Amino acid sequence: MPVLKAQGIVKTYRGGDGGVLNILNGVDLTVERGEMVAIVGASGAGKSTLLHVMGALDRPNRGDVVIDGESVEGRTDEELALLRNRKVGFVFQFHHLLREFSALENVMMPLRIGGTEPAEARKRAEELLARVGLTARKHHRPSQLSGGEQQRTAVARALATDPVLLLADEPSGHLDHGNAERLHEILSKLARDLEIALVVVTHNASLAGRAGRCLLLADGLLAETEVGRLAT
Ligand SMILES: Nc1ncnc2c1ncn2[C@@H]1O[C@H](COP(=O)(O)OP(=O)(O)OP(=O)(O)O)[C@@H](O)[C@H]1O
Ligand SMILES: [Mg+2]
Repeated sequence: MPVLKAQGIVKTYRGGDGGVLNILNGVDLTVERGEMVAIVGASGAGKSTLLHVMGALDRPNRGDVVIDGESVEGRTDEELALLRNRKVGFVFQFHHLLREFSALENVMMPLRIGGTEPAEARKRAEELLARVGLTARKHHRPSQLSGGEQQRTAVARALATDPVLLLADEPSGHLDHGNAERLHEILSKLARDLEIALVVVTHNASLAGRAGRCLLLADGLLAETEVGRLAT
């Protein structure tokens, strides 16, 4: 069973002039466990929109998304939130860490919200922070972490609840080359080691190059593309 199966995804928005904007025109995508897929495309092509729909953060107008065997169709907002919490991790371009909490507390947060006991949440969070190379920084607050360290903390937090699907939207978009490379290495290694499905939206050829498949979103549809075509 694939981790993610998106079928015939159509998404429209209402434009400022009252007209309809067709953003996604019937997107199909299947991602298996342990697989990494990169999505590239021009600004405004609908990459973030697609990621949000695939992660059950937003609903398609038509089509269905099935995450680990569970369809999003016909679910209430509360049910979608539960599905996300159990199955999906998100990493965005900006880390969205809580500023008044340490890295460790930030990574523990989704577990504590989900009802995991403090000791167990702490153990899991420490293990994940070790995996992203931040054991020595675990008591730092976001403002005391570098941009790269903040993003690595965000990756650890996204993985805290042991999701089967990790969705990343330009995760290295504002990192310098060295920090971006470190993040890319960690992301691709974790996806392999933890056998999760990783879908990453990126303009970065080096990150896309680590993916098993690179797909171009254009005219509301996905098509296979070659990383070599991306400008670095
Ligand atoms: N909530 C919304 N309401 C109306 N239009 C929207 C909404 N969200 C996005 N759009 C429009 O949909 C289109 C696709 O947006 P999206 O954010 O998915 O693009 P993107 O490919 O992620 O772009 P970028 O590379 O700049 O992040 C854009 O033209 C945007 O203006
Ligand atoms: Mg975007």
